[in-house]
Amino acid sequence: MENLEQLKAEALNEISSAADIKQLEETRVAVLGKKGKLTELMKGLGALPTEEKIALGKQLNIVKSEVEKALEAQKNILEAKALDEKLKTETVDVTLPVRPEQQGRIHPVSKIYEEVVAIFGQMGFDVAKGPDIEDQFHNFNALNMPANHPARQMQDTFYINNNPNQPFDMDSAYVVRTHTSGMQIRTMENQRPPIRIIAPGRTYRSDYDATHTPMFHQVEGLVIDKNITMAHLKGCLYDFMKAFFELDELPVRYRPSYFPFTEPSAEMDIGCLKTKTELKIGAGTDWLEVLGCGMVHPNVLRAGGINPDEYQGFAFGMGIDRLAMLKYGIPDLRTFFESDVRWLKHYGFTPLDFSSMTGGLSDNGGLAR
Ligand code: PHE
Repeated sequence: MENLEQLKAEALNEISSAADIKQLEETRVAVLGKKGKLTELMKGLGALPTEEKIALGKQLNIVKSEVEKALEAQKNILEAKALDEKLKTETVDVTLPVRPEQQGRIHPVSKIYEEVVAIFGQMGFDVAKGPDIEDQFHNFNALNMPANHPARQMQDTFYINNNPNQPFDMDSAYVVRTHTSGMQIRTMENQRPPIRIIAPGRTYRSDYDATHTPMFHQVEGLVIDKNITMAHLKGCLYDFMKAFFELDELPVRYRPSYFPFTEPSAEMDIGCLKTKTELKIGAGTDWLEVLGCGMVHPNVLRAGGINPDEYQGFAFGMGIDRLAMLKYGIPDLRTFFESDVRWLKHYGFTPLDFSSMTGGLSDNGGLAR
């Protein structure tokens, strides 16, 4: 009996101090296995007289079931502990970025392009696309700029020989388009009014300084219908500017100007604050020119095959790169086209943030800075 008590105490102690399943199993075998201490005692029962056999047998069974219970309990504890440890090493922090570092960036020009298309798209404009290499008819003549018209000199044009087998001929030469306004003509040639398009794309002029590069980007707009007026022009562009700069209030003004293809013509300025170090849009008493616009000249409608006695409309053109410089505070236009990844990393945008009027133009966390 004494032996039994000691055996039980030892067994329970070993069980509760088992550090892992393997150690626990060793204890089980040592006590309850085929040659286990308790098993041996049970084997010895047969040799005892009946009375003792019954008494000791009862005790042995009680101890056996106590040991079994303790084994089971400790097994549960050790298994739970093992699972906890396994889970700890397999933890996934779902708040970490997908990759250590995002590599690609959307160029500010592409971002502005997206934004402009999103805003005008919601106003019901289609996007028209045309060639970079243009004939003089579409780039000049049809836009009320016949040969020798002084306005042709307003734009420092790159001419391209239109026939490689002939010497260069100024009259029939092609140009790389100096503006997107040729798309007014191409659209009228292909579409009957009502017309409501924007035409974004590359344009070229022989010019190079901090705010001019030989290749730059413009977006043209054209609206033609029976009753389109200057009031529509003003409202449309005002709404655009507020949406684009993401401001509820934005002072604007229209200054009389001159373009051969619009009459009357105007330039649109937006209110801003200019200091030596910063430019704040929508505040202050300074003005910044943002686009040219006007009512489409009757000669232009005629050149596009539209009767100016029946239809009228407005057109506008603005620089995408210039809008990018203003909106995102980028000081030098030349840096746009240097393909410097450090620059792109600083000024670029994360690829998965699309510009939309419902999801946010740029304030959707899109700035990569
Ligand atoms: N094409 C003009 C420019 O490049 C802009 C403009 C477009 C002005 C349409 C009026 C109407 O400066």
